[in-house]
Amino acid sequence: MDHWLLSWFPCPAFNVTSSSFGTGTWRTEAVFSEASLMRVPSDIPLVGAATVSVNPCTAYRLLSDYETLRPGDSVIQNASNSGVGQAVIQIAASLGITTINIVRDREELPSLVRRLQDLGADHVITEDQLRKPEMKDLFKKCPRPRLAFNCVGGKNTTEMLRHLDYGGSMVTYGGMAKQPVTIPVSALIFKNVKLCGFWITQWKKERAHTDREEITKMIRDLCDLIRRGRLVPPPSTQRPLEDFSRALQDSQTPFLSRKQILIM
Ligand SMILES: NC(=O)c1ccc[n+]([C@@H]2O[C@H](COP(=O)([O-])OP(=O)(O)OC[C@H]3O[C@@H](n4cnc5c(N)ncnc54)[C@H](OP(=O)(O)O)[C@@H]3O)[C@@H](O)[C@H]2O)c1
Repeated sequence: MDHWLLSWFPCPAFNVTSSSFGTGTWRTEAVFSEASLMRVPSDIPLVGAATVSVNPCTAYRLLSDYETLRPGDSVIQNASNSGVGQAVIQIAASLGITTINIVRDREELPSLVRRLQDLGADHVITEDQLRKPEMKDLFKKCPRPRLAFNCVGGKNTTEMLRHLDYGGSMVTYGGMAKQPVTIPVSALIFKNVKLCGFWITQWKKERAHTDREEITKMIRDLCDLIRRGRLVPPPSTQRPLEDFSRALQDSQTPFLSRKQILIM
């Protein structure tokens, strides 16, 4: 039996999301119009199907909509071990695009670096390394990035922006550090960088009734990657719904790097 993707909000009980807003995310039964459902192939793992509609879709749009990227081009991102970041690494690798991935330093850094490299990350650097003059050496090995994906904010983002190519774009989709993004005036004047934000919910909302084909293509492409083992979900802990408070606690623990999946 195929899985069904009820367009947008994640609904773990069904592996589905709902096309209308405010219909309730947590539910075991629902009635929807056929037009608001999307078929997800049954030959991909359930966790992949359940988690395809937000983070992988975000990564797909970030890589598709802001610059024309060709194999060999590079992108830079922070919070690279996040769910979105891991999807960016894998989708970019499948397109031959080089990724420069910033993570926070930690005790288990070598194992995190290995894990991201196993997903296809080309370069993994810490926030501290990002500020070092040795960054110049990196750009002898790969071109300066045309695109930067910002999930953090604060100093980290300003430093990341410095490495963008002339005329490149930085897309902000998260603000994990809860600090504003500060842009050096010189980046705007002399490097002509473009800044914008992205929100997958709004992107889908604007196309829900007018451009289903674009959404269908995106889901199909992502499911193909999942089927071929080129897009795997982040490590996760599955918990029964009753354990939601433990799941919430773990989801807010820094450096844990595990998604919490509630099973109903
Ligand atoms: N705009 C959109 O359309 C869209 C779509 C999807 C997600 N998002 C947003 O994107 C963000 C990430 O979502 P996700 O599901 O990918 O998250 P996730 O898997 O839970 O990962 C969170 C990431 O943030 C990092 N982080 C946390 N606090 C930080 C700080 N103070 N400084 C630097 N890094 C920090 C974590 O790094 P450590 O491992 O070092 O703790 C981790 O890499 C969330 O804010 C989410 O709401 C936005």
